[in-house]
Amino acid sequence: MDRPLIQYAVEEALAAGITGIVLVAGRNKTAIEKYFRRDPGLERELNDRGKKDLMSSLNFTLQPDVSIQTVVQEEPLGLGHAVLCAREAVGNEPFAVILPDDLIDGGDQGCLAQLIEVAENHGAGVIAVENIPVHESDKYGIVSTVKVAEGIHRLTGIVEKPDPVLAPSTLAVVGRYILPPEIFQALAETGKGTGGEIQLTDAIARLLETTTLLACEFKGKRYDCGTKLGYLQANVEYALKRPELKKDFSAYLSGRKG
Ligand code: G1P
Repeated sequence: MDRPLIQYAVEEALAAGITGIVLVAGRNKTAIEKYFRRDPGLERELNDRGKKDLMSSLNFTLQPDVSIQTVVQEEPLGLGHAVLCAREAVGNEPFAVILPDDLIDGGDQGCLAQLIEVAENHGAGVIAVENIPVHESDKYGIVSTVKVAEGIHRLTGIVEKPDPVLAPSTLAVVGRYILPPEIFQALAETGKGTGGEIQLTDAIARLLETTTLLACEFKGKRYDCGTKLGYLQANVEYALKRPELKKDFSAYLSGRKG
C-alpha cells in the first residue's frame, strides 16, 4: 500500500507493547535506518500544512518512549546470524523476532501480541505456526509437537525446510518468535545448516534440549511478501481495507477485463 513492510513490522511490535526496536540490516541498507530517523523539518512542514493523514503515518516514531536502533549484519550469513548480530543490543532478556516479509493481519490483536499473551500465560518462548499444504514443507521451518491446548503446542522438534516426504508435520514456522536470551548461546554454537546459512531453526532445535518452547497457531491472515504473488495480494487486501479507497478500488477490480 503506502508504506514499507518494515513499518508494519514496527507497528505490530509497538501494538504488542514493545518499546525497544532493533533493526538488523545489511551493510548497504542505509535507507531502512534513515526511514525511521525523525525528521523535525518534515514533521513541522506536514503539521503547518495540515497534512494530518501523512502525520499519522509517521506518528509511531514520534513517541519519546520508543527507541529504534540499527545493527549492521556485515555478511549475509543467514537468519540465525542476523539474530546473533542483535545479541548486545537485546541484552539478557526475552525478546521478539519479526521477519517483515511475513505480513500478518491479525485483526484486533496483532500476531506478536497474541504470542506474548501465550508466552506470559505459560512462561515459555513461543513460535508462530500455520498449517500448510505438505508439498510446501521445503519452504519453511517445520515443527513436531504435542498439543497443550486449542491452537497451542509444545515443541518436540524443529527442522529447516524438509523435503515433503521427511516433514514431521504440516505446522510451518512463520516469521514471529518470542525467544529467551539463551538462544544467543545456542546460535553462537550453531554451524552452517541448510543453504550454507546459520539457521535460527537449528539453534531452536539445540535450545529444545534444555528448554520448553511452544508453537502457537495464531489468528489472522499471513501474506508471504517474499513472493511476488503474496506481495501483490497484500497490496490489494490492504488497499481494500482503506475506507478512502475501498469503493473505487473494488469497482476497478471487478470492472477490469482479462
Ligand atoms: C525463514 C526461516 C524459516 C521460516 C520462514 C518463515 O526462512 O528460516 O524457518 O519458516 O522464515 O517465513 P526464509 O523465508 O527466510 O527462507
